[in-house]
Amino acid sequence: MRAKQVFGIFLLSFCLQLEVNAAVPRIGVIGGGIGGTGAAYFLRKLFGPKGIKIDVYEHGAIGGRLATVNVDGFEYETGGSVIHPKNHYVVGIMKELGLGRRKTHESTFGLYDGNRFLFREANTWNFINTLKILWRYGINVITLQDYVSDMLGKFERIYGLQKSGFAFPSVNDLMAGTDLELAEALHVSLKEALLHEGFSKLLIDELVTAAIAVDYGQTTDVHQFVGSVALAGAGAGLFAVEGGNFKLPVKMLDASGATLKKVHVSSIELLNTGKYLIHSTGNHSIKYDAVIMAFPYAENINSNFTFRNFPSTFIYEPSGNYHRTVSTVVKGELNHTFFGFEDAADVVDEILCVRTDLAFNSIGRIYPVSGTPNKKSDVWKVFSQVPLSREQIDSLFKSVDKIVVKDWLAYPHYRADWRHDKFRVHDNLYHINAIEWAASAMEMSLVGAKNVALSFYHDWGEPIVEATVEETVKLNLKVDL
Ligand SMILES: Cc1cc2nc3c(=O)[nH]c(=O)nc-3n(C[C@H](O)[C@H](O)[C@H](O)COP(=O)(O)OP(=O)(O)OC[C@H]3O[C@@H](n4cnc5c(N)ncnc54)[C@H](O)[C@@H]3O)c2cc1C
Ligand SMILES: *[C@@H]1O[C@H](CO)[C@@H](O)[C@H](O)[C@H]1NC(C)=O
Ligand SMILES: *[C@@H]1O[C@H](CO)[C@@H](O)[C@H](O)[C@H]1NC(C)=O
Ligand SMILES: *[C@@H]1O[C@H](CO)[C@@H](O)[C@H](O)[C@H]1NC(C)=O
Repeated sequence: MRAKQVFGIFLLSFCLQLEVNAAVPRIGVIGGGIGGTGAAYFLRKLFGPKGIKIDVYEHGAIGGRLATVNVDGFEYETGGSVIHPKNHYVVGIMKELGLGRRKTHESTFGLYDGNRFLFREANTWNFINTLKILWRYGINVITLQDYVSDMLGKFERIYGLQKSGFAFPSVNDLMAGTDLELAEALHVSLKEALLHEGFSKLLIDELVTAAIAVDYGQTTDVHQFVGSVALAGAGAGLFAVEGGNFKLPVKMLDASGATLKKVHVSSIELLNTGKYLIHSTGNHSIKYDAVIMAFPYAENINSNFTFRNFPSTFIYEPSGNYHRTVSTVVKGELNHTFFGFEDAADVVDEILCVRTDLAFNSIGRIYPVSGTPNKKSDVWKVFSQVPLSREQIDSLFKSVDKIVVKDWLAYPHYRADWRHDKFRVHDNLYHINAIEWAASAMEMSLVGAKNVALSFYHDWGEPIVEATVEETVKLNLKVDL
C-alpha cells in the first residue's frame, strides 16, 4: 500500500515534470542586430530544433549597426567594420555558416594634431616603420602590446566558462567571474591605468589617444577594459566578412529558424501570470514566456521604450549616453596640401587624430565589401563627432565625386565610474546590450547574447533537448560568485 502510494506520487510528479518540460517556451527577441540574431542562434542550439519558438522583432534592417552604404555601385562598411582574429565566436560562426573572410588592406598611418603630423609611416616596408615607432615611443610600444594581449587573454577565459554553461546576471559578475582584474578594469580610466603601469605620457597622449579616437571617438578617460579592446583593434590580422559584416546576423537569423517580425516595439507588458506581452506598431500584441532586449537602452537612445504593469520595485531607468559618431564616406581625392604632404603619393592611408576637438577624428582609405581591387581605392571614410559642413569636406578633399553620410549613436560614452549593469532585468526578461558598457564590439554582443541565452536556458529548467546527459549535468551547475 505504502509502496503503491509512493509509486503513485512518483508517477504524478513524473507527469507534472513532463508537463512542465513539454511546454515549448516562446521567446520574443527585440532587435535584429548581431546581438539579437546571435541570441536566437544560441537559443536554437541550446533548445534544439523543436525546443523553442523564437520571434525576432526588427523595425529596420537586419544587422543594425553592421551596415553598408552604396557609393558608385560598390558597398562599403559604414558601421562596425573590423574583426579581430581572436574574436572566437565571430570566427567560429562564420565558419559554421560558410561566410568568407575579406582581408583588410595593408595600410600606413599618421598621427595628426590638427596642424601637423607628429608621426608618419613611410610608404615602404614595415621594418622602417617599426624602427620609426620605436624611435619615437621607445620599447614602451612593445610592452603595450604585451599589456593588451595579457588583458584580452584574461577575457578569453569567458569562452571556457560559457562552454561549461556558466551564465551571469550582470556585466560586473561576468567580468569578475572571468577574472577579478577585468572587473577592476571597469573602474579605472585607461590613462590612469597606463600611467600607473609606467607607460610614457608621450605614448599615451599620441598613439593610445589616436586608437581610442578612431575606435570609440573618445579620449583616454574611457575605462581601462574598453581602452584595451580599442588598442587590440589597432593590432594585426584584422579582417571583415566578405560581402559585408551584416551577413553574419542575416545568416544567424536564418539558421535560428526564428520568425522575423518587421515592426517597431513600443513596450513590454508584464502580465499577472508572469508572462509578457510585446506591444508593437499597429496595436499587435503577442504573449511570451520570456523577452530578450537586444538594443541599446540609454538616456539618448530608445529611452521611449516603456515597461507596463511592472511592480513599483522594478526600476530600470536608462542611464548614461551613447556617443555620436558620424561616418562620412567620400569618393574623391584627398587634399594632400591641407595635410602638408608634398606629393599626393606620400599620403598615408589612415590619418588618426590625437585630439577629439578637431572637425574629424580620423580619415581612412576604405575598400568595397567584396572583390579584391588591385589598385588603391579613392574612397575615404571620415569619422567625426558632428556632421561635416560642405566647406569642411571641400578643404579636406581636392575633388569630391560622392558623399554618403551615416549619423550614428554608435557606442556608449564610457566613464570610469562604472554602474551596475544587468543582463537579467526581471524574471525571464534579459538585456544583452548591458555588455556594451564593458566594450561595444561585434564579439562582445555575441558574448552577451550567449550569456543571456544560457541564463534563460537555466531559468526555464530542464528543457526537452537532445542535450547529452553530460551536457545537462554541466548546464545545471549553479554559479555562485
Ligand atoms: C561607426 C561604428 C564603428 C564600429 N566599429 C566596430 C568595429 O570595427 N568592430 C567591432 O567589432 N565593432 C564595431 N562597432 C560596434 C558594433 O557595430 C556594435 O557593437 C554591434 O554591431 C552592436 O550590435 P547589437 O546587435 O548589440 O546592436 P544593434 O546593431 O544596434 O542592433 C539593435 C537593433 O534593434 C533594432 N531596434 C531598436 N529598437 C527597436 C524597437 N523598439 N523595435 C524593433 N527594433 C528595434 C535596431 O533597428 C537595431 O537593428 C562599431 C559601431 C559603429 C557605430
Ligand atoms: C490601440 O489600442 C488602444 C486601446 O487598446 C487605443 O486607444 C488606440 O487608439 C489603438 N491605436 C491604434 C493605432 O489603433
Ligand atoms: C522618442 O520617440 C520619438 C518618436 O518615435 C523619436 O523621434 C525620438 O527620437 C525618441 N527619443 C529617444 C531618445 O529615443
Ligand atoms: C587644400 O588645402 C589647402 C591648405 O589648407 C588650401 O589652401 C586649398 O584651398 C585646398 N585645396 C582645395 C582644392 O580645396
